[in-house]
Amino acid sequence: MSKTLKVLFLAAEATPFVKIGGLADVAGALPRALRALSEEDAGGVKLDVRLAIPLHMVIRNDSATLRPIATFSLQRSGAEMPVQIFETNSEGLPVYFVAGEPITTSASVYSANSALDGEKYTFFSLAALEMTKHLDWVPDIVHANDWHTALASYALQMKHWNGEMQETKSLLTVHNLPFLGPDITGRLASYGLPLSATDLPKWAHAQPLPLGLWASKKNVAVSPTYAEEMLTKEFGAGLEGYLASHKDTLMGIINGIDAESYNPKTDTAIPTQFSAEILEERSWNKAGLQQLTGLDIDSSIPLFGIVSRMTGQKGIDLALGALSRLKKTPWQAVILGTGDSAIEKQAKRLEKLFPDRVKVEIRYDDRLARKIYAGTDMFLMPSRYEPCGLSQMVAMRYGCLPIARATGGLKDTIKHEETGFLFEGDNIKSLSKAVREALKIYEDKNHWKTMQRNAMAEDFSWKNSAKQYAALYKSL
Ligand code: GLC
Repeated sequence: MSKTLKVLFLAAEATPFVKIGGLADVAGALPRALRALSEEDAGGVKLDVRLAIPLHMVIRNDSATLRPIATFSLQRSGAEMPVQIFETNSEGLPVYFVAGEPITTSASVYSANSALDGEKYTFFSLAALEMTKHLDWVPDIVHANDWHTALASYALQMKHWNGEMQETKSLLTVHNLPFLGPDITGRLASYGLPLSATDLPKWAHAQPLPLGLWASKKNVAVSPTYAEEMLTKEFGAGLEGYLASHKDTLMGIINGIDAESYNPKTDTAIPTQFSAEILEERSWNKAGLQQLTGLDIDSSIPLFGIVSRMTGQKGIDLALGALSRLKKTPWQAVILGTGDSAIEKQAKRLEKLFPDRVKVEIRYDDRLARKIYAGTDMFLMPSRYEPCGLSQMVAMRYGCLPIARATGGLKDTIKHEETGFLFEGDNIKSLSKAVREALKIYEDKNHWKTMQRNAMAEDFSWKNSAKQYAALYKSL
């Protein structure tokens, strides 16, 4: 009989339950992709991967299908903290939802109040481990993600667990290094978990992500290039020295995308389905998007798309700057996203400046996002840093060519002048240059179509990444 490897996958957010950023896509898809691997692809083991996420307010309001399965309490400052566990089966994936006062009191997934978030995610990380005692299911591996759940790995390493998880190994995937989490000294103490003497830099010794990096047997960056960049001053968030001296614990595995959901052949959110074989059909989507957003319906005008969280990381300001300098030739742009109000306002200003060229929608809208991938010609993604990036892969799958900074996962997924355009540096000048190059090739319809077909032929499905994670689980 083959061995079953039990993996508890922990994350702050996961589709289809709650999504703020790319972490949710990964946490929603990777556990499923792992479960779907054949035993052969998983290296001769069966993978029993289960997901646990906090029962955020937004999920609670829509929780008809959740079954209560356990209640217990954690000790905090000498008092009992009740925890409730709910369960659902999401198309074959067992999902646990952890509820309790620190999770219920905060209205949003991530709060501007870092003390609230510190308590919420400490509670979640510890409660999720404690939960396994009540499931009759002892994980062989705890797979934490980002700072929010990194403390689960730390608590395991500190043997905060009497009983059955003595042999359990931990693994931490880093989706966004600069988010280290708030100082956690008081929180840990209240749960009776000491702050260990680590070899972390002193300033980082009480923050969840560094503690998780220290405690985990393996740390995975979401792309090979980001794994290398994390060792440099520009991208290392101050931890580059520490990480460099623990290089052997660090590796990179590129994310995938949900190739079934993001399939232009079957996507019902777009006006006209298409594929590389019937690429002509794609133009109906451009016309449809132009019509929907009130732009001139004209297939010859290059149409740029942006779908993004509006944060400094994503370099939206660079994209807006490059567009506003593009005066000589006609162009149009559709921009969708929410985030920092300063960047949202800057986008709105560009719309005011070019009312018949630019449409800006400040919201999260999956259906409109898909229309943008299917209808625009070029996808702007001048990220200042990009651990992996998912939307450039979705864009390519829909024949929309990305123009992106050669960093992190962008560099690992885009082939310059074959499937998109890469440029070095994080400034408007180099982006503008790349945009001009792209526009030149756009004039050559055959060349452009070849690039579109190349991009659409790339395999970004989760299977490849899942195989690498499976091998890693097995090695642990
Ligand atoms: C974060 C990163 C992004 C990555 C995503 C999923 O959002 O910023 O680059 O694709 O996590 O790993």
